[in-house]
This record gives sequence, C-alpha cells and structure tokens, in this order.
Amino acid sequence: MKILYIGGGYVGACSAAVSADSGHEVLVYDVNSELVKNFSSGDKDKIEACLFEKGLGDLIIRNQARLKFTDSLAAAETFVSEAGAVFMCLPTPERDGTGETNLEIYEAAAKTLAQVLAKRNNGAQNQYVLLVNKSTVPIDMVNRTKEIMLAGGVKNFGVGSNPEFLVEGKAIEGSIRPPRVVVGAESEKDFAIFRDIYSRFAESSGIGYFEVSPAEAEASKLLANYMLFSRLANCFDVAGRVCEKFPGLRFENVRKILIADSRIGDWGFYDSLFAGGSCFIKDARSLAHQLKAKGAAADLVDNILAANQRQLDNFLGRAEAELNFNWAGKTAALLGLAFKQDTNDIRNSASLQAAEFLLGKGVAQIRAYDPAAGANFLKYFSKSEDSGKISLAGSESLALAGADALIIATDWPQFRGLTGLIMEELPKGALIMDGRRMLAQSYGELANAGYDIIAVGSPVIRKG
Ligand SMILES: NC(=O)c1ccc[n+]([C@@H]2O[C@H](COP(=O)([O-])OP(=O)(O)OC[C@H]3O[C@@H](n4cnc5c(N)ncnc54)[C@H](O)[C@@H]3O)[C@@H](O)[C@H]2O)c1
Repeated sequence: MKILYIGGGYVGACSAAVSADSGHEVLVYDVNSELVKNFSSGDKDKIEACLFEKGLGDLIIRNQARLKFTDSLAAAETFVSEAGAVFMCLPTPERDGTGETNLEIYEAAAKTLAQVLAKRNNGAQNQYVLLVNKSTVPIDMVNRTKEIMLAGGVKNFGVGSNPEFLVEGKAIEGSIRPPRVVVGAESEKDFAIFRDIYSRFAESSGIGYFEVSPAEAEASKLLANYMLFSRLANCFDVAGRVCEKFPGLRFENVRKILIADSRIGDWGFYDSLFAGGSCFIKDARSLAHQLKAKGAAADLVDNILAANQRQLDNFLGRAEAELNFNWAGKTAALLGLAFKQDTNDIRNSASLQAAEFLLGKGVAQIRAYDPAAGANFLKYFSKSEDSGKISLAGSESLALAGADALIIATDWPQFRGLTGLIMEELPKGALIMDGRRMLAQSYGELANAGYDIIAVGSPVIRKG
C-alpha cells in the first residue's frame, strides 16, 4: 500500500521506517527541510545526529527504495492520489501550561492535507483514503478531523486512530515487535485497511491486536501513559522518599522485596530525580484537563503531576537544605542531558530544570556532558542571557575536572562505571548529587575518598 506520513519526528520517522520495512511504499512529508535532507542522505551518522534512535538509521537506509522523505507539498500531492492511508504524526503540545492540548499545528496540517486530498485524482477523489491520527490527541479528536476534511471538500475518506505506544530509545525494536497494536475505526472497511497495513502484526501470535472505536483508542493511550507515569511518580516520591528519610534503608533492598510480589510487578521500580520526556507530563495534564472539562474530578492525576515535580525540587534543594552548600560562584559538572538513556530527546528533561536551578543560584559555570543530547541542550539555552555560563564538555572527564559539584541527571549505563574517573578528576571535598543512583555500588567508597553524596533514595552520605 502507498502510505503518506505527515510529520517525520520521533513517531513519524520510526513508524514510517517500520511500514516501509513491512513492504509498503512510504512517503514522509515534513516541513523541516533539514530533517528531510538528513533522512534522505543515506548516511547513518547524519540520520542519527538528527534523531538518535537505536536502529533507525539502519532501517531507513535498508528500506530507502520504498521510503522517501520530502518537504515538497507538490510531491505529497502527487503521491497521495494513489495512497490508501495518511498517518498524522504531528506535535500536540500543551497550551501555555493550561493542560489543554494545543491543536494549532495539528489542525493547520490537517487543513493543508484537506486541500491536497480534495485535488486527488484530478478532483474526482475516486481513491478511498483512510486518515489516521497517530499523534496523541484529545479523546474526541476523530470528529474534529472529520469536520476539517468535510469543510475542505474532501470526499471518499475515513478517519481512524492508531495511537503510538513506542518507548523512546527502544522505538524500533518496540515497533518491529510491539506488545500491542491498537487501531480505532468506525467501519469494517477501515479496519480492513488497518489489517492490510499491519498484516505483519494482525495475524501474529504474541502481539495484542485490538480493533476498537477511535475514542477508545485515544482514551487508552492517555490512560496508559497516566498509569505508567503514576507508577514512576509513586515510586520516586513515596518509596524513594521513605528510603531518604529513614536511615538504614537501602533502596535496592526495599525494591527487591516489593517487586517479588507479582501484583506489584517490577516495571518502573527504580528511583530517579524526575520523570521527564515529551509525553507523560503533557498527556497527564491533558487527561486532567479533559476530565475537568467534563465536570469530573482529576485530583489524583493532578497530585501525581505535583509529586513528580516535588521529587525534582526536593532533589535539587537538598544540597542547601542538608549540607548548607552554597552554589554561588561554583562550577558544576552536569552529566546526562537527555531525559533518559538511549535518546537525544531533551523535552522535559530534568537537566533543563537542573541547569535553570543552578543558574538561578548564581553558579559560575555549568560543564555539561551527554553522549547524544549535547547539541539539543546547548540549542535550548542558546537564547538564555546566561548561555555564556554553559559549556559542552567533550567527555565525562572534561566535565568533572576541577568542578565543585557533580550532578548526574540521566541513566546512561556508562555512568555506572564512573567511580574511578570521579576519584581521578573530581577534586576531593566536592559534592556528588546522584539523581539516578548510578553510583549506588560505590557510595561508601566515594564518601571514604572525601566526597559528600546526595543521592535520590538515600539520606545524605557525608565524607568519611
Ligand atoms: N515521542 C514519543 O515518544 C511519542 C510516543 C507516543 C506518542 N507520541 C505523540 O506523537 C506525536 C508526535 O510526537 P513526536 O515525538 O514524533 O514529535 P516531533 O516533534 O518529534 O515530530 C513532529 C514532526 O512534525 C513536523 N511538522 C510540524 N508541522 C508540520 C506540518 N504542518 N506538516 C508536516 N510536518 C510538520 C515537525 O517538523 C516534526 O518533525 C505527539 O502527539 C506525541 O504526543 C510521541
């Protein structure tokens, strides 16, 4: 089948690559010419510099005969005349801290798409096309998409929903062997198109393939993200805090006991300074907003959001509160800028708030390091009046050398092995703030070597 993707970001690019790998002929239309150029380059380094997602470069290159990228609307227009489906993979950010989903980008793209679709087959529109919401959108979005299409004169179409459950950092692996595929449609004709697109999964054992209404699909996506987010916030803000407040509790030991109960399960049972990323916070806020708009209470959702923020505020404030540490004039090494390992995505990353906190406290310098997200981090702060205080270090050791404090904000696996390097490069007497318990095996050793340690899920550990 010919499939057009609108938007080639994390979701669009990964999903399009998997569709091409399933044998479909795919065109991705994106307004970002730089992204289109890099994805069309056939060069894995350029693809990964643009969007770092394990396996994406190889998959795009392997399927380049069937997978094209364009920023030309005319090219999309030609292609769509024969397309059986169009996937909308557009950003759906929050509107100015209100929780409401800002649909401006989505609706503008849908209006442009309507103009393109109304012209297909020289205006005859005899090719039936299924429009698919793949973005995370409000529960009743299918109706809004339909209205836009009808207002634009589009005929012979259906609107469905296929929420994306990918996990950044494991998006390709997860899209090739997804635990579930959820398709929402209003007619058997549209379900049949989905089955054709996803024939690789629809008949496969071990993959949950769910045919539901579009609203059920959208609601399930929002609720799934909320459940996962609440799990993290509970673990960080309650289990982690218990282990911080009562001396003698080792978080890892408490975890072993809790997760031995299959009713509790082990997903998300670690301690972290914050649950960031592009989805959990935005989607929980959207869910709360939608519930309140229907006159329902959303206190639990709001409290989960507050617990997550409290966790970060608590972590960042501990050096002053518990060690009387004065940040003014200090040099801080910030290791880990991506919101989690295996991605260059910094959206809602703890590192952004950590850097803002440090700048607000008057640090002299932040030396930041990340294996993948450095460029995005620098870009984020490029317009800040304090941007001169932030520099990117080329390695962990360059970030650590001579610093007064170290903050670890991302769970890159290589940070677990930093104990030796810290003892070589970070001056004795400096403060270590471990926001991911990456160094948990060596807190004793590091304290004996002369470092004060503040770790999520531990009381302060003073130098020995
Ligand atoms: N990133 C994730 O892990 C994830 C997971 C599940 C669902 N989602 C949802 O999927 C949607 C997309 O998320 P994302 O992370 O891929 O966003 P993204 O910002 O990475 O990608 C969006 C892309 O759309 C392009 N775009 C913007 N306006 C356009 C237009 N008018 N025409 C064509 N292209 C346009 C942008 O240039 C960008 O490349 C959001 O609703 C998000 O909530 C994201």
